[in-house]
Amino acid sequence: MPQIPSPQITHICCIGAGYVGGPTSAIISQNCPSIKVTVVDTDAKRISAWNSPAALPIYEPGLEAIIRNQLNINLFFSTDIDKAIAESQLIFIAVNTPPLEIIDTDCSGRRRGAGADLSAVMECAQRIARVSTSSKIIVEKSTVPCGTSHEVGDILQKYARSGVQFQVLSNPEFLSEGTAVRDLQHPDRVIIGSALQTASEAQEHLKYIYKHWVPADRIITMSQWSAELTKLASNALLAQRVSSINSLSALCESLGADIKEVARGCGADSRIGGDFLRASLGFGGSCFHKDLSSLVWLCDSLRLTPVADYWHQVLLMNEFQTSRFAQRILSTINVRGARIACLGFAFKEGTGDARNTPATRVCRELLTAGARLSVYDPKVPADHILSMLTEEAVESTAANSARVDVGYNCVSVCSRALEAIEGAQAVVVLTAWPEFRCINWEQALQTMPALAHIFDGQAMLDHEYLQKLGFQVVSMGK
Ligand code: NAD
Ligand code: UGA
Repeated sequence: MPQIPSPQITHICCIGAGYVGGPTSAIISQNCPSIKVTVVDTDAKRISAWNSPAALPIYEPGLEAIIRNQLNINLFFSTDIDKAIAESQLIFIAVNTPPLEIIDTDCSGRRRGAGADLSAVMECAQRIARVSTSSKIIVEKSTVPCGTSHEVGDILQKYARSGVQFQVLSNPEFLSEGTAVRDLQHPDRVIIGSALQTASEAQEHLKYIYKHWVPADRIITMSQWSAELTKLASNALLAQRVSSINSLSALCESLGADIKEVARGCGADSRIGGDFLRASLGFGGSCFHKDLSSLVWLCDSLRLTPVADYWHQVLLMNEFQTSRFAQRILSTINVRGARIACLGFAFKEGTGDARNTPATRVCRELLTAGARLSVYDPKVPADHILSMLTEEAVESTAANSARVDVGYNCVSVCSRALEAIEGAQAVVVLTAWPEFRCINWEQALQTMPALAHIFDGQAMLDHEYLQKLGFQVVSMGK
């Protein structure tokens, strides 16, 4: 067990009970039994779900067990934000920071990307300052543009009661959805950024919490600006690898090469490594797109146009990949009036999160071309899938009477993969859920009409076997 200095932090709270706030607080409570952790949010429905371990608001492998163990022991979920702020010595801000506006232009030097909407972060800062009657450490956990912790500090100072002081630290989160528990329990690194001249004591307090389970050499301290940029840069570098392999997948399809073989060959070079080289129908999720947009915005603001161009290209390549896949389906089969089985909807396997999922775009293009869809995803709730697919369809119905049959009746959500496939003319794989490899494809084929197609957008199935069974297989990168 690492050496823990004498405990000074006994109460902490986390504002924002989302994909970051919930799991992060659960891991802290599990590893720091002497600290009371309260997670607060304005969303009463979400808080109530966190208080019911059987119906947590997010799906993360391993999370339910931790919540069951810690709930109401030293982990609490509440809507009483002011009380939690008042009693805490250290407060994490883990609220959402969505893109402010999307401006997509050519390369003429005009701004592209999107700044981050920091209103929730700033609202929290104001609230903390107004409520606090004692000095506190404020930890910025949300992903924010460089300079935000400085602005948070200014707001805290402006609204602080007399005699109350705040130290602001930047502590970006690097967890991935689907592996959040593992990532939080065994992080590659914990970054703590601070305005070094004033915040070294605050830094020690935050380190004290992490040292309960994170080896000291994995806790890296740096300036606030570096910490904030490290977060954006990490996501940009990961997204860049995905766009790089996806660009090569287009080349493979034209040349007759196989992207999985190319990725394996390249990844075997220890300098390159194999992670994030899986070709797909494009990256999705709430963060890669948002954080790249934020980086592009920042570069353009600083008139670093070639740098902005460089990162913007990662986003453009991602859009190209998704639309390329949809077009490949449309140019292979006539989908008008046909039923297409869509397997997967989440932006990646292991999560029920469908924010910014490439599946939406592919499904919408199929619907617009007149297809009927039966969708199956093991974790994304049915009402969520329907709302994401039919909102636009209903809008387009109003705008264009030719699309009048595109609506709820064109999308059905199924509770099993085989149910979605039954009678469909083609199967489209949209998310790399491992269970899709175990589908009884022989049985599935029997329920489908002749010339059944499989479009494998995640290049994940055993194509040779499927072809032997009689499927026409079209795969990303092959
Ligand atoms: P989320 O939308 O799941 O959760 C945010 C929560 O904050 C919501 O429940 C919302 O109700 C609450 N909230 C918003 N404003 C509030 C306010 N003023 N007071 C109290 N509660 C408020 O978001 P998330 O996915 O957890 O992301 C949070 C931040 O962490 C973002 O900046 C994101 O970029 C970053 N991040 C996310 C991930 C991820 O995997 N999702 C990973 C690393 C970093
Ligand atoms: C990503 C980062 O990996 C986390 O470190 C970061 O904390 C998080 O964003 C964030 O800031 O929100 P996440 O989006 O949850 O995590 O998931 P990833 O595993 O990174 O996948 C992102 C997208 O890229 C998914 O759509 C995934 O399917 C796709 N991907 C990933 C590929 O297409 N190919 C790959 O090889 C890897």
